[in-house]
Amino acid sequence: MPSEQTRAPLGVIGAGWVGLVTAACFAELGHPVTVRDVLPERVADLESGRVPIYEPGLAELIARNRERLTFTLSIEDVFRDARLAFVCVGTPSTYSGDADLSAVWRVLDELPDFDERAILVMKSTVPVGTGEKVRHELDGRGLAHVGYVSNPEFLAEGSAIRDFQHPDRVVVGSFARADGDAVAALYEPLGAPVLRTDIASAEMVKLASNAFLMTRISFINEIANVCELVGADVADVAAGVGLDHRLGPHFLRAGIGYGGSCFPKDSLALKQLAANSGYHFQLLSAVIEVNELQKRRVVAKLVKHLGSLQGKTIALLGLAFKPNTDDMREAPSLVLASRLLAEGARVRAWDPVAIPEARKHLRGVEFSESVLDAVGGADAAVIVTEWEELRDLASPAIREAMRNPLVVDGRNLLDPEAARAAGLVYEGIGRASSSLRAMPAADAEPEPNPRPAS
Ligand SMILES: NC(=O)c1ccc[n+]([C@@H]2O[C@H](COP(=O)([O-])OP(=O)(O)OC[C@H]3O[C@@H](n4cnc5c(N)ncnc54)[C@H](O)[C@@H]3O)[C@@H](O)[C@H]2O)c1
Repeated sequence: MPSEQTRAPLGVIGAGWVGLVTAACFAELGHPVTVRDVLPERVADLESGRVPIYEPGLAELIARNRERLTFTLSIEDVFRDARLAFVCVGTPSTYSGDADLSAVWRVLDELPDFDERAILVMKSTVPVGTGEKVRHELDGRGLAHVGYVSNPEFLAEGSAIRDFQHPDRVVVGSFARADGDAVAALYEPLGAPVLRTDIASAEMVKLASNAFLMTRISFINEIANVCELVGADVADVAAGVGLDHRLGPHFLRAGIGYGGSCFPKDSLALKQLAANSGYHFQLLSAVIEVNELQKRRVVAKLVKHLGSLQGKTIALLGLAFKPNTDDMREAPSLVLASRLLAEGARVRAWDPVAIPEARKHLRGVEFSESVLDAVGGADAAVIVTEWEELRDLASPAIREAMRNPLVVDGRNLLDPEAARAAGLVYEGIGRASSSLRAMPAADAEPEPNPRPAS
């Protein structure tokens, strides 16, 4: 429920996932929040009550706190009442792999003149050293009275509100102790541990956390690939590994690799940051390469069963980079669809929320309104995103609808036994595959090490 208490006004610069969640959650705690974006249609949407991104619970949270939220195109409005503003602008990759900080520099260029003390709080993910550069820039522009704090954001799309309201930790890096105190105080009502550091360390906590999560994903994916060769089941292996309290169960789910607006660009940015500083970050380079190859293994699995994909109809089930979001940035479905089209396949695609976004990125793909439509007459279906709606895919209706009942489960969402019992030919990741004899393809390459069907 929204707080009864009225707290200090705050500013938020950038109305994307991080900015809108930050604004709505601080409004819920009692802060009037002014949110600024540069996209007129985005601000108009928000003013008229339409939330431009799909994040569970966000529209409701914004509606509930509408009185405390102001949406604007003007940066002057942000600092009219607030003396503390969160910078939540995008920091995508440049061609070199470095983070593109142009939106951050634009914020500095646009800062209005003010004489009073104010604090810029960086929530965007930025390379280590950015805070130092911003500090230098502010001082050079006669804005020494504007403080700078690094407060990286760890929320995950799909569970962003819960992650913001119940964070594992809040990291606050500051040049001046008092500025860090002011930011840490804002999080007091959440009761989370607060780690106080210098600016560079706060910046590195974010990059290192993401890199570690990606390392776990690529690690378990490589274990999965070996499992396929030696006849082990990666789901059982991950369960056994995850029960070790030193390791824990998280991010040990084998699949077709990570995507999204953060991991790919943040891994490249950290790799480049290290390289620019004269260090070759070998482990991270391998993590990135494993992830790239993992997406493509799906195509090999399809070829294994179907032979040439020329003229075959493949249904991609799930397009968003993960469930509960419509974010298509760096989604594995993009690589998969392009690879399949390049192989001459006909690609159909279904997603419960991401089709409008996907249409902007995918040319030559037919979009289906339902799973049944997507798989109708298909030679294979690929589970690309683990949407809840796909959990009961293993059904006679799906089996009947498909020309060939091959399902490549890129997220190990289905129970292999149940899938086979429903008459599907099932291929997971890192799990024993269905017998090729169940569905021979005239032009299929023989398996190098055929194993008995499970
Ligand atoms: N999305 C996530 O899950 C997530 C999680 C943690 C951290 N981050 C980091 O947070 C930052 C923002 O990510 P996002 O996913 O919210 O990005 P986003 O692309 O969804 O939103 C960024 C917004 O900033 C706006 N913008 C650009 N320049 C602006 C300016 N000068 N003034 C005001 N608005 C401006 C854009 O129009 C856009 O609406 C990135 O650095 C990202 O790496 C993202």
